[in-house]
Amino acid sequence: MSSSTPLSHSIALANGELTLRNRAALAPMAGMTDVPFRTLAWFYGAGHMVSEMVTAKPELWDTGKSRSRRVLIDGVRPQAVQIAGHDPLVMAESARRLVGEGVELVDINFGCPAKKVCRKAAGSALLNDIDQIQRIVGAVASAVDVPVSIKTRIGLTLGDSVGTEAAIAAQNAGAQLIVMHGRSRACRFKGEAQPHRLREVRQHIHVPLFVNGDVIDPQSASRALVASGADGVMIGRGAMGQPWIFASLLGRPLPDAAERLDVIGRHLAMMHEFYGDEAGARIARKHMQAYLQRWGAAELTSSFMALADGDAQNQWLFEHRDRLLGVARSAATQMGAQTPVAA
Ligand SMILES: Cc1cc2nc3c(=O)[nH]c(=O)nc-3n(C[C@H](O)[C@H](O)[C@H](O)COP(=O)(O)O)c2cc1C
Repeated sequence: MSSSTPLSHSIALANGELTLRNRAALAPMAGMTDVPFRTLAWFYGAGHMVSEMVTAKPELWDTGKSRSRRVLIDGVRPQAVQIAGHDPLVMAESARRLVGEGVELVDINFGCPAKKVCRKAAGSALLNDIDQIQRIVGAVASAVDVPVSIKTRIGLTLGDSVGTEAAIAAQNAGAQLIVMHGRSRACRFKGEAQPHRLREVRQHIHVPLFVNGDVIDPQSASRALVASGADGVMIGRGAMGQPWIFASLLGRPLPDAAERLDVIGRHLAMMHEFYGDEAGARIARKHMQAYLQRWGAAELTSSFMALADGDAQNQWLFEHRDRLLGVARSAATQMGAQTPVAA
């Protein structure tokens, strides 16, 4: 049986130009939320997803990595790609090319703390220069006729409100959705996210606001919404190893253990096909590690890691099916209910 939750409701962007089918979004995570993973997250209800970060640099446009990151997924709406860079003209040109390929929303990364990105004055480094944020969003918004969103952080440190200034500047320059991670750049991914720090942003912006950081289940989603006053949530690491998490956020039944094993099998097949056998098998390892950890079967991880190709991985899953079903059954018995393994 399914019942709606505050996250189940659709939300309009850009005066109704685009509608997100619900308010439970998947966060972009480079190396994780690729086409295969997003396909599954969408199937289980994610209401909005942007691609892994793609550099705006024209000389890297045709690399295998950039190309695979901007592949569009059949049936997903809006088709959204995240770009990172620092030069407004280059960012605008990259957005134009993306829209030419069918992209329906361009997201700009003002949150990534990675050295590789910040050394080039992109990502969260731009929180040092609010005027540049305004110039970039303005250039991108006027270059394309699709909505532009930004993803940023609450500040450079917990002691400043630069994130609020960035959100206001972005909105003034034409951003139609703001996603804010409740950590500062200095926090990187450590310490608890502080959704209440979005309250200040909420008071100053009228476009939809999504809160990100440490949302891992319906309870934390509801706490983050209340604390922040945001319109929706964006989930990152909480979705690793459980792309079906969106069902629970939307009040829908979670798949049972047999269905979850089928999903994992489908995920493996999609990775082998999307990346080719060798690269697909390599990428599958980190996803399987997350699946097994959530399953309560982390001790099986090393035997999976040793497998060299797609066939061996498929065979491994086939051979371990009964054992994994047994682990799920005993976890359900211990919990005294027929619920799936806890997240
Ligand atoms: C492995 C990894 C890769 C990430 N890649 C991106 C990215 O490409 N673009 C982006 O805006 N944020 C990226 N992030 C940040 C997440 O989108 C998110 O803001 C962060 O993980 C906090 O949310 P969470 O607590 O729900 O995981 C990444 C995070 C992780 C852990």
